[in-house]
Amino acid sequence: MKFSLKKFSIAPVIALACFPSSAHKTTPEWIDNAVFYDIYPSSFMDSDGNGIGDLPGIISRLDYVKSLGVDAIWMNPIYKSAWFDGGYDIIDYYQVDPRFGSNRDVKRLVDEAHKRGLKVCLDLVPGHTSNKADWFRKAATEGPDGRYADYYIFADEISAKDSADIRKRYLLEDPDSSKLGPWVPTEEAKAGTPSDGKYTGNFYQKNYYPCQPALNFGFANPDPSKPWQQPVDAPGPKAVRREMKNIMAYWFDLGVDGFRVDMASSLVKTDKDKKETMRLWADMREWLDREYPGKVLIAEWGVPEQSLPGGFDMDFLLIHRSPGFKQITRGSVKDKSVGKDAFFEKTGKGAYDKFVEEYGEQYRKSKDFGYISLFSANHDINRLNSEGRDSPDQIKTFMTFLLTMPGVPFIHYGDEIMMRNVKGLPSVEGSREERSGTRTPMQWDNSVNAGFSTAPAEKLYLPVFTDNGKLTVEAQEKDPNSVLNFTRKLIRLRHEHPALANSGEWKSISDPARPYPWIYTRENDREIYVIALNPGGKAANASMPLTGAEKPVTLIANGNVKVKSAADGISLKMPGISSAILRIEK
Ligand code: NOJ
Repeated sequence: MKFSLKKFSIAPVIALACFPSSAHKTTPEWIDNAVFYDIYPSSFMDSDGNGIGDLPGIISRLDYVKSLGVDAIWMNPIYKSAWFDGGYDIIDYYQVDPRFGSNRDVKRLVDEAHKRGLKVCLDLVPGHTSNKADWFRKAATEGPDGRYADYYIFADEISAKDSADIRKRYLLEDPDSSKLGPWVPTEEAKAGTPSDGKYTGNFYQKNYYPCQPALNFGFANPDPSKPWQQPVDAPGPKAVRREMKNIMAYWFDLGVDGFRVDMASSLVKTDKDKKETMRLWADMREWLDREYPGKVLIAEWGVPEQSLPGGFDMDFLLIHRSPGFKQITRGSVKDKSVGKDAFFEKTGKGAYDKFVEEYGEQYRKSKDFGYISLFSANHDINRLNSEGRDSPDQIKTFMTFLLTMPGVPFIHYGDEIMMRNVKGLPSVEGSREERSGTRTPMQWDNSVNAGFSTAPAEKLYLPVFTDNGKLTVEAQEKDPNSVLNFTRKLIRLRHEHPALANSGEWKSISDPARPYPWIYTRENDREIYVIALNPGGKAANASMPLTGAEKPVTLIANGNVKVKSAADGISLKMPGISSAILRIEK
């Protein structure tokens, strides 16, 4: 029977975005339907009682991960690290940090995950090493002709402004700040020994924290007056590129399925339009498709229209690059362009127009190359249970959104049991207070330390907060209405109904001028799904005229959502903080 969703009767209606989707030709098939689960390894499961999570711990919890219905895991860095930035300051790319176990444990983890039908992606950090890495120590001390000198970016003299930034950072403000100017004085220069050609340079460029010297992938338009600016095909940058391929190959040979790539857009310097950086990744992709077909690359880039044509399979929509994502999720992040309250807050004063506009644009431009990844949170970004979202219904409404949007969704460990984003925790290994709250240990049960570790509480990586035992896997397993079980149902639905999954068409159909409820559709040639979200605290109604429709079926609802269908349309009555997915056969 012919069915067409026309428009809402609630106001003049704008069908904002309707873009068919198809994936990158080299994107492996399993991605087309995949949901990812991200694990911060220090905080998932501690097997040896030292208060810090490890690989055997993760292996022991794979059955749980599988029970969620997800398809793949992404783990933050597990390599030997100086631990000044949660493992993103790598000392040796080829060694697992002893705190997590050994390389053999990675092999075991991958094998055990594969047995369960789960893929495993690691974190590749190509943009920088630790300043304690062998490469850097040799680069800094063996002089300009040393083997590693051009692996990094050194200068003997820098501009007055850059020097002032260094002074501010080092003497006056925060010596460890990731902000202010790119240059950092070498240990030798700090000790008052000018390089005079003996050391490689007085300064090096950092990529994030000062202890993270940038690896040298070259400059987009080298300025001849700045001798450190080498072209991308100079011997140093070429060698670094080769090293990255060798590193990936090593882990692929162990069975790893792909990498999330840290700061993927940062590699080629002074590359404003990112053309050279895209070329670099296209080269990596070409190598990958030839040598390791079927492996995946996930970008931390935040501009899918660049990263996906550049060779990535997926790219995260990053909060700091996306006013639209901020508009719906992060009222606390000050951005005047999108108002104070987030759409997913119970105040009901948010909006989603910017998100639809911005997401729609990126989606249209990148859909033929790969997927945009939305996430519940991650090791840098506040958990879902924050920003005034502190009730199960609110979290369920957000999960309904996350798990019905196109692209490949990522669930941050613990968000499926509504773990809290705790404020006021100490900075641990460079987390700064703002990131500590999203890195607290996974809460398994009501035993000591919520089952995460047998260590004394003061030895834990970060404290646990179970809200009197409510926010644990054990408690929520038993409750059919828990966030955990609701999330499982959503994942199952996504897998059962391809139109709801990664490639189905997406169309926002409600009127953004009256944002509650927000309604969008997912569609393929057989079915249409209507997703209705009312995260605001007040009841909200909507109606959709339709022609010749079969009766809509409510697949899942959070709250008492009333759906009435008559010959001339469907109407929805939604209580405050509710959501629903309806299916309509074509
Ligand atoms: C992004 C990572 O997600 C973050 O945790 C890290 O601090 C920086 N990159 C530097 O590697």
